[in-house]
Amino acid sequence: MTRPVLALAVLLAATAPLLAQHAPKPLNLRCEYHADPLGVDTPAPRLSWQMPLISVQRGQAQTAYHILVATSTEQLAKNTGDLWDSGKVDSDQSLHIPYAGKPLSSRQLCYWKLKTWDQAGRASAWSDAASWTMGIIEPDQWHARWIGAPEAGLAAPQLRATFDLPSKPVRAIARICGLGLHELRLNGVKASDHLLAPAFTDYNKRALYITHDVTEHLRPGPNAIGVILGGGWYRLASRDFFGFEKAPWTGPPRLLLELELLLADGTRLFIASDETWKWSTGEIVFNCLRAGETIDARQLTPNWDTADYDDTGWSPVTVLPAPAGRLAAQQQPPIRAARRVRPAAITEPAPGVYVIDMGVTFAGHVRLTTRGRPGHTITLKHNEKLQADGFVDMKHLSSHTLDKRFQTEQFILAGTGVETFEPRFTYHGFRYVQIEGLANKPSLDDIQGVLVHNTPAPAGAFACSDPKLNRLQELIVHTQLCNLHSIPTDCPHREKMGWLQDGCVTQEAAICNLDMATFYAKWLHDILDAQDPGGHVPSIAPNSGWASAKPDGGPGRFADPWWATAISRTPWNLYIYYGDRRAVEQAYDGIKAYIDYLSVRSTRAYGSLGDWLEADTQNRAKRTPIPLTGIAAYQLATRQLSRMAAILGRTEDAQKYGTLADEIRASWIQRYVDETGVIVPDSQTAYALALELDLLSAHHRSTVAAQLTANIAQRRGHLSTGIIGTHYLPYALSNSGQVDLAFDVLTAEGQPGYFHMIDSGATALWEQWDGNNSLCHPTFGAVGAWFYQPWPGSTPIPPPRDSNGSSSDRTCRAASHGRRPTTTRCSAGSKAGGSARATHTPSS
Ligand code: BGC
Repeated sequence: MTRPVLALAVLLAATAPLLAQHAPKPLNLRCEYHADPLGVDTPAPRLSWQMPLISVQRGQAQTAYHILVATSTEQLAKNTGDLWDSGKVDSDQSLHIPYAGKPLSSRQLCYWKLKTWDQAGRASAWSDAASWTMGIIEPDQWHARWIGAPEAGLAAPQLRATFDLPSKPVRAIARICGLGLHELRLNGVKASDHLLAPAFTDYNKRALYITHDVTEHLRPGPNAIGVILGGGWYRLASRDFFGFEKAPWTGPPRLLLELELLLADGTRLFIASDETWKWSTGEIVFNCLRAGETIDARQLTPNWDTADYDDTGWSPVTVLPAPAGRLAAQQQPPIRAARRVRPAAITEPAPGVYVIDMGVTFAGHVRLTTRGRPGHTITLKHNEKLQADGFVDMKHLSSHTLDKRFQTEQFILAGTGVETFEPRFTYHGFRYVQIEGLANKPSLDDIQGVLVHNTPAPAGAFACSDPKLNRLQELIVHTQLCNLHSIPTDCPHREKMGWLQDGCVTQEAAICNLDMATFYAKWLHDILDAQDPGGHVPSIAPNSGWASAKPDGGPGRFADPWWATAISRTPWNLYIYYGDRRAVEQAYDGIKAYIDYLSVRSTRAYGSLGDWLEADTQNRAKRTPIPLTGIAAYQLATRQLSRMAAILGRTEDAQKYGTLADEIRASWIQRYVDETGVIVPDSQTAYALALELDLLSAHHRSTVAAQLTANIAQRRGHLSTGIIGTHYLPYALSNSGQVDLAFDVLTAEGQPGYFHMIDSGATALWEQWDGNNSLCHPTFGAVGAWFYQPWPGSTPIPPPRDSNGSSSDRTCRAASHGRRPTTTRCSAGSKAGGSARATHTPSS
């Protein structure tokens, strides 16, 4: 019998290379969530991939992987991992495998590929090669100096330098941090499509630099580099409610930039911001994120960013101190001009005053094309509502900008013919624009609405047979996007603030719809940076100091555990949905400090806001006692801490905080549930929290579910919940067997409810059920996550494709429901490799 076996073995050996050649290969290689990222500044970048498609189709799981990381494509092609050869590792993991090779240096370019094995022991082919480029690991490794033009005041200074190149570089990488905001230009053109960059942070803790590949913009011979600096949150021009104009980090805008050039002969050159640069003001004579921008076209300096420009009259820049925060690479999806809209209508409430209805409430700005006399000023006032007389209501939502000017652009004409104006360093939340000072009535073509926000790739899709529910889904996603401005904001106009509950309660819905991993990972840093030394977590992040703990350590303004527990709920969501263990590691000590803070401070720290925005209560939580929600949040976060301790292998903590969570749960039950299982007070939020956060003995669940049903019936099928309860309400119903009722509540006609917004013509979600205040608030969009639940009868639809056209490996779900949404289809889930699933986890 020996011979035939041997013969077979020889045959297999001979055909193996052939089979391997045609074997499928792992796909969608990602490093720190990105395809071929340019600025990775963690020493152990995490690598992720997806299994070969054919293996997935066969229902196969990965059983092993082999990663190679090399200094060159040539090494990689020879299957040599001169930086790291993981060898064959038995593992089903395909998410966030930390690099474990030779130490990496700043700016290093790393190439990688891998192969995997399936359950039958079949090896895949090697994947295509991918790469990542290291950022700057240590601050002293930057080749550049911080420079600026403090004399420019509230105008936006233009900074420039020129340089000669012997040949066109084969690779040119720009690393830039221009605070508060910057626009990078090379040889007369904008070098990237980012807007309002870099992201908002507590600049005393962290400032973000962006890495761009700018090879296409450079040429042999003379070149010019230019940067325009705006104030942003670093130097806010108007006084605001939160005191951001006097935040501890504030100062004149400043720039740090290095351009790393690789020539064909291997020479590496650096062009860097330093004292040799020159500056001058240009056409932006005033800029403020809240007030708006003034552009004086008479001060345009055409071609200032080209090598031929004569800058003899320009002044030398000032070398400025670095911001106190550490520099880190920006990873979140950029803010861009995401979409353009044509106005719906123009009216003229008074002669020469034109009111433009953009047809939709959104975040961004207007691009205006016009002509007129030199020095003539055109004013654009943006807001969400009209007064009865047809003018734009500029009082509405202006309460948090303390100086008079609010969401207002001024364009001063050069008078040179047709001129186009578009602000760079501001954005507004609005539907209507009132334009004053035009020589003639504008046409619809003269005005363009530009939606400006972070641009995460789509991650889920939802459709059903009920057009109004589809419309609600549209509003949820639209409102969410309009509130992504490097932090999750509460609204794009009045406050523009990173209120923790608004930004956290909407996370699951946002994650189901959009690829939010790097966005929330960044915001987690903001929350940790905002935490006070005693463990207190302010209700906004970044924080100017306005919401910090009192000098005696007591809770700061509007402190509330539902806002503060974003410190644990955010890393928990990152872990559950994206498998991001590092987020848990990073947040762990902060969460612990907050739980210990609550344990010591107890009642005083149980909250000041509670179920804010409950229906019919003029915002305040009246129906649901504030300690009821506060203690529930305390329990939830303590339970999460215990689970995270277990995930990190900290058994003692897991035990300790598990016991504490049990005690908090017991005290909640003692306070609010009587011995028959009845909850007092009669509040939908109280019932929903009890059911969803496991604040009940199992045998009392049906009693509380019945209380909830009775309450809804009493309210004729309407919800009455606020900023906390609304998210939990549909889960509480469906998890107690009342999917129909959950749909009924979400689709109830009349006030309060989502369909009331839709029937009233809402073009974004409202802040309040009655339509007062902001008309672009993401918060009630939290229910969007529930749409992705696997309801009976669901059928999957194909997962969405990312911007590279590649399909992501997502858990696809569809819900089909007997009456209203006869075919509700949805998909949601995790990023590359997807071991985490997008499902709501009760008690999480
Ligand atoms: C914001 C809310 C926020 C609340 C807290 C409001 O002004 O817009 O969404 O959570 O303040 O008080």
